[in-house]
Amino acid sequence: MTDTIGANLAALFQAAAAAKSLAYAPYSNFPVGAALRDEHGRLHAGCNVENAAYPVGTCAEASAISAMIAAGGRAIATILITGDGPILVTPCGACRQRIREFADPGTPIHIAGPEGIRRSFTLEALLPDSFGPDNLRRKNPGADA
Ligand code: THU
Repeated sequence: MTDTIGANLAALFQAAAAAKSLAYAPYSNFPVGAALRDEHGRLHAGCNVENAAYPVGTCAEASAISAMIAAGGRAIATILITGDGPILVTPCGACRQRIREFADPGTPIHIAGPEGIRRSFTLEALLPDSFGPDNLRRKNPGADA
């Protein structure tokens, strides 16, 4: 399996699965892992981190994006999200918008279960006609990378 920048999707899946295995989700018991490649081909991963004050919890995608930003990455080339259970763990609405900030309409979003990738979407398919940096006359932060 290879993604659009020729990197190994298996590595992305393994990183997301490893992050999921370390998730802090004692309230929902629904661990989620996310892994992405930045514009330099580097891999960043994260998991959901819940909180006793429920709304303060964060999603796996947000954690992976934070890791990318803290490492100097500015664009998402590919992202993979994995969760358990029979239903596809597609990103929540807020996370679609979080991804939008750093991705292009054609950026692949792969959804995996414990056994591997189940379906692949583009950002545009999950968040059509979206509002983003370009609305504020700002290019995708990774566009010049
Ligand atoms: N969750 C994510 O981490 N990403 C998503 O896109 C969907 C939901 C987490 C949030 C919460 O910790 C748990 O899954 C149940 O909603």
